[in-house]
Amino acid sequence: MYILGIESSCDETSAAIVRMEQDGTRDIRANIVASQIDIHRLYGGVVPEIAGRAHVEAVSRITYEALATAGLTLADLGAVAVTTHPGLIGALLVGVNFAKSMAFARGLPLIPVNHIHAHIASAYLADPTLTPPFLALVVSGGHTSFYQVETETDIREIGGTRDDAAGEAFDKIGRVIGLPYPSGAALDKLAYEGDPHAFSFPSPALAGDTLDFSFSGLKTAALNLLHTAEQRGNPPSPADIAACYTRTIVDGITKKTDAALRLTDARTFVIAGGVAANSHLRRALTSLCDKNGVRFVAPPFALCGDNGAMVAAAGYFGYLAGQRADPSLNASAAD
Ligand code: KG4
Ligand code: ZN
Repeated sequence: MYILGIESSCDETSAAIVRMEQDGTRDIRANIVASQIDIHRLYGGVVPEIAGRAHVEAVSRITYEALATAGLTLADLGAVAVTTHPGLIGALLVGVNFAKSMAFARGLPLIPVNHIHAHIASAYLADPTLTPPFLALVVSGGHTSFYQVETETDIREIGGTRDDAAGEAFDKIGRVIGLPYPSGAALDKLAYEGDPHAFSFPSPALAGDTLDFSFSGLKTAALNLLHTAEQRGNPPSPADIAACYTRTIVDGITKKTDAALRLTDARTFVIAGGVAANSHLRRALTSLCDKNGVRFVAPPFALCGDNGAMVAAAGYFGYLAGQRADPSLNASAAD
């Protein structure tokens, strides 16, 4: 069946059409992403009110663009899936109301999708042979959490950040060292040019048996180091900061992933979310999995950031599990 996936939880409006079948077919026919990054860059971060308006302007246009790219019409669709939570409420409501109108006007099943579960579902598109159970790490601008994935729709959080997310931590320091928002990808590149041992920062991996993280101490330590050095008229090399900061985050996440693999006895590990595009992190986690004989699955870069295809994929499994929304469907900011 062809599923239309609509995503509008943050700063990308996306509409995708994916063909998913029980025989393992996962065919992304179109995955249109209208990014608002250029608009929000002026403010150094996402402005919720502006995001909502930009989604309104884009959502209908990109849905028809997705149909045209896929060479399909509305009559070919079998279901509509939409991100309902978590995210910016004014942004989510745009996608939810659009998807509701589309589904009820066409008499199509409407499937509500959790944004984090959608990130995990991007892995089914990357590897059609992937089946639960597995351990997943979603690492993005808003989340850094481990999930025990029992079935495609039975997903339980087993640890996560108690404050900032890894993506937020990258973006914050990137901004201070002069990189444009969002700075994750630029910081990834810059980190290759610096000395990863020039400074020592506190690990985001919390001590003890927990699978939880805290990124706020690391962020504050890096900011303090930058401010103090600047006051002394001796600013550190941005490449050294990028390299040390990245090493600290990658080491911390790798350490907790090692613990999570042991705790869950997982044979397969999935990483997803915008920060899953980080080349240093991918390398470290690939090598950790190799060492432990664990299968490593990571989506291609195009499916790491927010996109409609992952929403369609999660929606398909929700559809199979009988999940349906009625016209009272609402969005919610919380997890
Ligand atoms: O999943 P996503 O598109 O949106 C959320 O759901 O948050 O993730 C966006 C985050 C941003 O913080 C961005 O800086 C980060 O992913 N990011 C990266 C890289 N590419 C994107 N962080 C580190 N390294 C990258 N290569
Ligand atoms: Zn996301």
